[in-house]
Amino acid sequence: MAGERHIDRTVIVTGAASGIGRGIATRFGEEGANVVVADVRRDPKQGEKYDTDVTTPTDELLTDETPGDGTYVETDVGDPESVEAMVEATVDTYGGVDVLVCNAGIQIVGDSQSTTVEEWRRSIDIDLSGAFYCAKYAVPHLKESEGQIVNIGSVRGFEGGGGPPYAAAKGGVVNMTRDLAMELGEANVRVNCINPGYVETPLQDIVTEEDMAKSREQTLLPRFGTPEDIGDAAVFLASDEAGFITGANLAVDGGWLAHSGL
Ligand SMILES: NC(=O)c1ccc[n+]([C@@H]2O[C@H](COP(=O)([O-])OP(=O)(O)OC[C@H]3O[C@@H](n4cnc5c(N)ncnc54)[C@H](O)[C@@H]3O)[C@@H](O)[C@H]2O)c1
Repeated sequence: MAGERHIDRTVIVTGAASGIGRGIATRFGEEGANVVVADVRRDPKQGEKYDTDVTTPTDELLTDETPGDGTYVETDVGDPESVEAMVEATVDTYGGVDVLVCNAGIQIVGDSQSTTVEEWRRSIDIDLSGAFYCAKYAVPHLKESEGQIVNIGSVRGFEGGGGPPYAAAKGGVVNMTRDLAMELGEANVRVNCINPGYVETPLQDIVTEEDMAKSREQTLLPRFGTPEDIGDAAVFLASDEAGFITGANLAVDGGWLAHSGL
């Protein structure tokens, strides 16, 4: 639902070429924001289950179809130099940063024996260190704008499942959110985290039919989540309507975490 909550604000969304990040970027665009699409790729991922025929790059979609602007900046969130350059490019283009959404992520499926050391490092670099690097370089600008950080964690940040590196990284994002909120409260910079349940994106191609059926049982509502569901929550948390919310972890999971499993 389009509104006017972020007119002329500058919003960085990492991992915004595809899936949830694309949904978040689109919702901010509908609210009038200028959005930096910070991703390793420009073309959207083609999923096998979902987003099978999505082709328009997010930055093009934002520039053509929403009130604000969209700019693609090639970024690897696991590389601090790349993140620093992306933040600089954002400030050069739009003059500052109002909202940082740390969404980019990967999921390595496996257990302690099948996950390689290289996979562990890559997952932690992208899923956990990436959010830290983004905060590190964007915070000076967020202090100037009294802006907001929205991290994207996962229900796996609160429970086992998802593989050792993913569970560890998401648990880390959940708790880093609280620590950053403590650091930045005095500067009126709010930091919150959205923890999605099962959301229909290309990431789900790795999920087997059996695990999909279990996810269906774990989700209380009669459908899976969409990138727009997460986008709506991000737009809200970064808006004045959420002006007294910081350090919070918001489950947007269709009731996944409320389900006892029985
Ligand atoms: N889909 C779900 O059910 C679900 C559930 C809980 C949490 N999440 C989280 O939501 C976030 C987005 O997931 P998704 O489902 O949209 O995934 P996706 O695979 O559909 O899209 C992820 C995007 O991130 C980009 N990306 C990957 N590595 C990157 C890097 N190093 N630097 C910059 N960009 C990079 C990809 O190119 C892609 O465009 C992730 O953090 C994920 O852990 C997803």
